[in-house]
Amino acid sequence: MRGKLKASVIGTGNLGSCIAYELANRGIFEEIVLVDIIRGLAEGNALDIGQAIALRNNTEVYAGDYSDVEGSYIIVVTAGKPRTPEMKTRLELLEVNKRIISDVAQNLRRIGGDAIIVTLTNPVDIMNYLMWKYTGFPRERIIGSAGMLDSARLRYILSRKFGVPVLDVEAYVIGEHGDAQVPVFSKVRVRGEARILGEAEKFEIMDEIRRSALEIISKKGATIYAPANNTVNMIEGIIRNEGKLYVCSAILNGEYNLRDISIGVPAILGSDGVEEIVEWDLDEDEKKMFYSGAESIRRTIESIL
Ligand code: APR
Repeated sequence: MRGKLKASVIGTGNLGSCIAYELANRGIFEEIVLVDIIRGLAEGNALDIGQAIALRNNTEVYAGDYSDVEGSYIIVVTAGKPRTPEMKTRLELLEVNKRIISDVAQNLRRIGGDAIIVTLTNPVDIMNYLMWKYTGFPRERIIGSAGMLDSARLRYILSRKFGVPVLDVEAYVIGEHGDAQVPVFSKVRVRGEARILGEAEKFEIMDEIRRSALEIISKKGATIYAPANNTVNMIEGIIRNEGKLYVCSAILNGEYNLRDISIGVPAILGSDGVEEIVEWDLDEDEKKMFYSGAESIRRTIESIL
């Protein structure tokens, strides 16, 4: 007999609690377990979220420990320090979040199982890689969430630039979740048509995506709804086995001529996690940026292992 369809969220601060709320609100799991080193925080969020959805669906939301996490289909990891306005890059979180991810991963390794782990802790490409290393789980089940957020930011900017509804824009951001992110301009479609952007326009848009996270952090202290909702969309696609394309940080195994690093790539996600990594034909500038991001991720990994 199968257990209940369960998701767990490890680290129920700003982002984790919002993800748990959105998962509960959509009613796509029967149970949601909240884990935090501050137990009271997980308990408070469980009550608040449970009461928020009480008139809507029967999802059971409760605070727990790793024994409750056992048997989860999806485990979302948002444990870790967030970026503050004075931090120039997410890499400044490296040391502190490495320790936190190591703690979480050891616990997940101990309980085993075949959950799909969705990590958001920053710098996400590095933390997702560490999650893979430290848990020893198959690479297909290790997913870093940031690419759809960056893609949503790009679509938001393009929709305003072209004066069309955001749902009529198709655009993706791949590569490092950081300075070397790659808006794939060569594949931008607006109402089905390719749009050719000039160099100056591209530069401006890239700058705007980069700045948008910091602008939110400096104005309201954290990015919450955008990373949360874009992650939950991806999780819903996974558990519904949609076989749809999402950009996520995945542990490559020879795709794009890279192996054993985690970087944002287009991937087909289904009920077993990453089903296929899609190798796009990038233009020269995009390739340059993508591989420079990959190189910097590799160097960072080497420096902290
Ligand atoms: N185990 C479980 N929970 C932990 C651990 C741990 N070892 N270490 C820290 N936490 C919890 C904290 O107690 C806190 O409640 O993780 C939570 C983090 O929440 P916030 O500080 O509010 O940070 P948040 O804005 O949610 O961002 C979390 O996601 O996007 C990234 O850059 C962001 O790395 C950051 C992470």
